[in-house]
Amino acid sequence: MKSKKIAVLMGGWSSEREVSLSSGNEVVAALSELGYSVKSIDVQRNLPKLLQELEEVKPEIVFNALHGVGGEDGVIQGVLEMLQIPYTHCGVTASAIAMNKILSRKIFQYIGLATPPWKLISFDQLQEGHPMEMPYVIKPIGEGSSRGVTLVFNETDYQQSIKEWNFGEDVLIEKFIPGREIHVAVIDDKAIGAIEIKPLQGFYDYTAKYTPGKAEHIMPAPLTPDAYQEVLELAEKAHKALGCHGVTRSDFRYDDTTDNPKFYILELNTQPGMTPLSLVPEIAAYVGISFKDLLEKKIKAARCHQ
Ligand SMILES: Nc1ncnc2c1ncn2[C@@H]1O[C@H](COP(=O)(O)OP(=O)(O)OP(=O)(O)O)[C@@H](O)[C@H]1O
Ligand SMILES: [Mg+2]
Repeated sequence: MKSKKIAVLMGGWSSEREVSLSSGNEVVAALSELGYSVKSIDVQRNLPKLLQELEEVKPEIVFNALHGVGGEDGVIQGVLEMLQIPYTHCGVTASAIAMNKILSRKIFQYIGLATPPWKLISFDQLQEGHPMEMPYVIKPIGEGSSRGVTLVFNETDYQQSIKEWNFGEDVLIEKFIPGREIHVAVIDDKAIGAIEIKPLQGFYDYTAKYTPGKAEHIMPAPLTPDAYQEVLELAEKAHKALGCHGVTRSDFRYDDTTDNPKFYILELNTQPGMTPLSLVPEIAAYVGISFKDLLEKKIKAARCHQ
């Protein structure tokens, strides 16, 4: 069993390349310690090269440690379906829908989950003036790690976002939800725990996500038992509604600034980070699932979907 050959796909060409290399290296080290025969593949946007590398390794399973465009959106999953190599995480359809913040929230809304009020506009429209009353959020529809996400509280934020925008024609605008930040891990259709994130300054941006000491992680999230249970159920619903498989992480804002506290789903991640500061491993550890156990679960669930 343990001599199983696993190829770990990492890197990729998305804006989350560095994050993926970090996730991938953690995975490779732990799988090697577990006794698997592991080979890492740095994925480029070069299909013949990838096919050749997979042909050389002949993996029984692919561990997909890619994040973002190309690796988390159904593209690489499609290649693995063609090759019929079982792979970790979600299949083509769930990956593609989850990575698209417009399509996924339409499904979330359809099943009754609250999302921040939102609209889809073009970059040209964004340049014409504020698309919504402040405070609001500008974000790409298909990125991760907070790449391109700007919280607009004033004119400077707005101008800055326009200046730095590098994410195509479509722009997602949503109302800023005050309150707290709660993330939930789901494994094999079951929510295992919720964590609260408190960035020391600003919001949970790229720096707060990947620099030690920039955000406080509180596990378990200090919610009332009812609210804790509620957010677990919401994450399970989101996971099932998108047809997800294996391990996912859903991100929520919890507006407890009113008399009727409410959870808003921001998104669901089908390839949650496995870096040293990532949240799913931390949530899992709290409920007694070690990093290695988590990997074993992912490997056990690896499959083709079509
Ligand atoms: N509507 C909102 N109201 C308040 N804060 C928000 C809102 N949307 C996003 N944020 C902040 O920005 C962060 C990143 O947003 P989001 O999860 O949508 O982006 P992402 O790039 O897909 O992130 P991930 O790394 O989880 O893939 C959130 O965790 C939150 O801190
Ligand atoms: Mg997020």
